[in-house]
Amino acid sequence: MKLLLVGGGGREHALAWKFLRDDPSIEIIAAPGNPGIADIARCVWADINDARAIVQLARSERVDCCVVGPEAPLALGLADLLRAERIPVFGPSRAAARIESSKWFAKEVMAMADVPTARAEHYTDEDRAWAAVGRFRAPLVIKAIGLASGKGVVVAMSHDEAFAAVESMLEANRFGDKGAEILVEEYMEGEELSLFAISDGTNAVPMMPSQDHKRLLDGDRGPNTGGMGAYAPVALADDALVGRVMSTIIEPTLGRMREMGSPFTGLLYAGLMLTLEGPKVVEFNCRFGDPETQAILPLLDSSLLDVILAVANGDSIAGTSFAWRDGAAVTTVLAASGYPNAPRTGDRITMPTPREGQILFHAGTARAADGALVTNGGRVLCATAVGATFEQARRESLALADSIDFAGKQLRRDVGWRESARDARAP
Ligand code: AMP
Ligand code: GLY
Repeated sequence: MKLLLVGGGGREHALAWKFLRDDPSIEIIAAPGNPGIADIARCVWADINDARAIVQLARSERVDCCVVGPEAPLALGLADLLRAERIPVFGPSRAAARIESSKWFAKEVMAMADVPTARAEHYTDEDRAWAAVGRFRAPLVIKAIGLASGKGVVVAMSHDEAFAAVESMLEANRFGDKGAEILVEEYMEGEELSLFAISDGTNAVPMMPSQDHKRLLDGDRGPNTGGMGAYAPVALADDALVGRVMSTIIEPTLGRMREMGSPFTGLLYAGLMLTLEGPKVVEFNCRFGDPETQAILPLLDSSLLDVILAVANGDSIAGTSFAWRDGAAVTTVLAASGYPNAPRTGDRITMPTPREGQILFHAGTARAADGALVTNGGRVLCATAVGATFEQARRESLALADSIDFAGKQLRRDVGWRESARDARAP
């Protein structure tokens, strides 16, 4: 079995790690991979956004399956091109990937499927957007419609902040052409939760819910990022809640996409707000979450590879479920100096060998000419730990994060603080 894994972040390292645990005999080629993935698989340089080059690589390597990690190649139609070449692929078509690549498309699908989400209006014209802001109560949210790696969102506490966000997105065009369309959205109050469901287009199997930490700084302060840490399980997210999310959110969304002629196959990620009125959608993503994947895969006892291969080959996954081990996992992201606005690259990294229960996933790392490990992206490393309890996992994740050194290292020391607070309240 030969598998092509597209991507080179912490999520892809965790996927490769899990696939090899599921079947140590498979051969994984990662494009482009990273130095951590290179320790367990073969890395081949490729531009992941050059779909033709990826298809060519898949063909020349005669891979049995292709798994696409990031959203950008999916939004560009990589899965469609691979399918046209009869190469099994895990990942949605370009049309289905719009659930992530266009926040307005996602809102339309949700409206048609009666899926609970924040009320939103769509604008390209600055004057009209300004007028809309005045009609929304503060706090309110301004979002760029297209892909912006979680950074095209401003949660405005006041109308002035919202006006400034509208101006920067539409007038100064701060996010390039991605800022040309915006949503003005109602603010939702509550705790956030990430739920992944793997779908064959018709059936969907939920994974273990987890919680990401989007803000850069402790106490959920600072700018939004791609995600600074995650943990699982989340005590609040019991089986009843997962069942409710599946029946009120995931299944109606998948059903509506089927009816629209763009069935979603792959991983549907629901970013949720647990409001007083129940779970509502903050956003959908069309791929595994990063860094949530680095927290949940170490807890997955049953095979991920089997489910992914079934979906890629067009087989039904009806009746499938995942088995999880007891305990908890925490992942702490180590980000580069300057992240998220202008991450610096090339800082030398020193680190020890992880202890039992600790796993270090590489995200933005590279080898310098002399072979030294250096920073090469915004999120550099993910320090994951699995423990019998949440508290143990949290301590071990931080211990691993603290033992790694590079200039300007940024991390959150409070990953899972809500769970700690719950633990403290527990009898
Ligand atoms: P998104 O890229 O849409 O996931 O937004 C990034 C982050 O902004 C989310 O994880 C939330 O923390 C916050 N956010 C987005 N939309 C809302 C909303 N309607 N109400 C409250 N917070 C939001
Ligand atoms: N953790 C957020 C994301 O993957 O988009």
